[in-house]
Amino acid sequence: MSKVGIFGAGWVGLVTGSCFAELGHEVVIRDVVPEKIEALRKGDVPFHEQQVPELLQRNAERLTFTLDVNDVADCELLFICVDTPPTYSGDADLSRVWTVIDELPNLKGRPILVMKSTVPVGTGEKVRHGLDSRGLGHVGYASNPEFLAEGRAVEDFMNPDRVVVGAFEEADGDAVAALYSGLEAPIVRCDVNSAEMIKLAANAFLMTRISFINEIANVCEATGADVVKVAAGIGLDRRLGPHFLNAGIGYGGSCFPKDSLALKQLASNSGYHFQLLSAVIEVNELQKRRVIQKLKKHLGPLRGKSVALLGLAFKPNTDDMREAPSIVLASRLLAEGAEVRGWDPVADGRALPRGVEIATSVLDAVRGADAAVIVTEWAELKTLARDEIRDAMANALIIDGRNLLDPAAAREAGFEYEGIGRPAALVAEPSV
Ligand code: UDX
Repeated sequence: MSKVGIFGAGWVGLVTGSCFAELGHEVVIRDVVPEKIEALRKGDVPFHEQQVPELLQRNAERLTFTLDVNDVADCELLFICVDTPPTYSGDADLSRVWTVIDELPNLKGRPILVMKSTVPVGTGEKVRHGLDSRGLGHVGYASNPEFLAEGRAVEDFMNPDRVVVGAFEEADGDAVAALYSGLEAPIVRCDVNSAEMIKLAANAFLMTRISFINEIANVCEATGADVVKVAAGIGLDRRLGPHFLNAGIGYGGSCFPKDSLALKQLASNSGYHFQLLSAVIEVNELQKRRVIQKLKKHLGPLRGKSVALLGLAFKPNTDDMREAPSIVLASRLLAEGAEVRGWDPVADGRALPRGVEIATSVLDAVRGADAAVIVTEWAELKTLARDEIRDAMANALIIDGRNLLDPAAAREAGFEYEGIGRPAALVAEPSV
């Protein structure tokens, strides 16, 4: 078993640290924010992520939280798990990565610095150079990107489709790969640049699938086809697969929007115009706004109309509001003069623009509303099309931004219903 240091007690750092501890490694998690470290020592996790509190508790004896960088000095592997937010130019901001490197304690032997944060291709080479020029030539370097999806991060870590390890030295890659030996997963070994690109390309491909199916949905609406059936029919083709073909109101979150911009800028900084990715980003922006058109189609001008936004987090099972479509929708609705009420079982909605009222229950959110929009497919909303809700609304209109409900059942229950990419009125589902 190894001693692992983690720089950054954010979402990636805590998931990674708690999972390595679960695999039997000794883990030291270091952050620069005293309140964060204090809270973690008391067992408080600063975000909503299934299984993380349990893992931290169960492996408490193998986990240390610290502000002192010297506490990681004897770690064999040092993971960088800091934020790489976009800058004004859309490039990734690597200042926190460089701060970690500047603050490295006096390291003996051959510790290996491992990059988990998502970084532009070429970062590893720059860091390698930076280490060498600081007299840290004895510190190894590897890229080991994360592919964790929020809400299922622990499961993703423990049952990965693959583990990617890029290194300059074979032995450094071996040491990183050995950390995962308790898991059954193919390990992709490659050079550092390729490891960095795998992460960016995987995300870009997933986003491409989403924007693709969203455009198919829009054409379905124009032509009378049903995107849910179309996606099922596409997904059974083994060359295509069923994942990431749910049409909706676009992707959000902490990764996709940021990483797509970073890849686009990375390409353009190198003189290449990544046309397909630019289109993927634009389609996603337009997709969020289509809900407004749908509301207008049913309600006319939105001034003075009351709209309930159901689900505020960018996806279910997380409280993360970063780049959530709910923020764009709320802003657009307020700009149109609508009254906006929001509800979410976990997210507090603080990221929403001022003027949005936050309701504590779905029923409160829809009371007197002219329309209810399913923004996030929380399980709690599967039963939205029920009498109590219909009777509470001023106008029983549901715009289902995630195709969560059965259209026929919703209409049967007395709602006007519109999903994404679904025919205006469906006959009962034929039994196959
Ligand atoms: C994603 C990647 O999945 C993960 O590998 C990477 O490390 C970080 O980014 P995450 O952002 O947590 O993870 O969520 P994910 O479940 O991938 O969903 C991203 C967005 O795409 C969400 O807004 C979701 O609603 C949307 N989405 C996803 C769709 O609109 N349709 C789909 O079919 C799938």
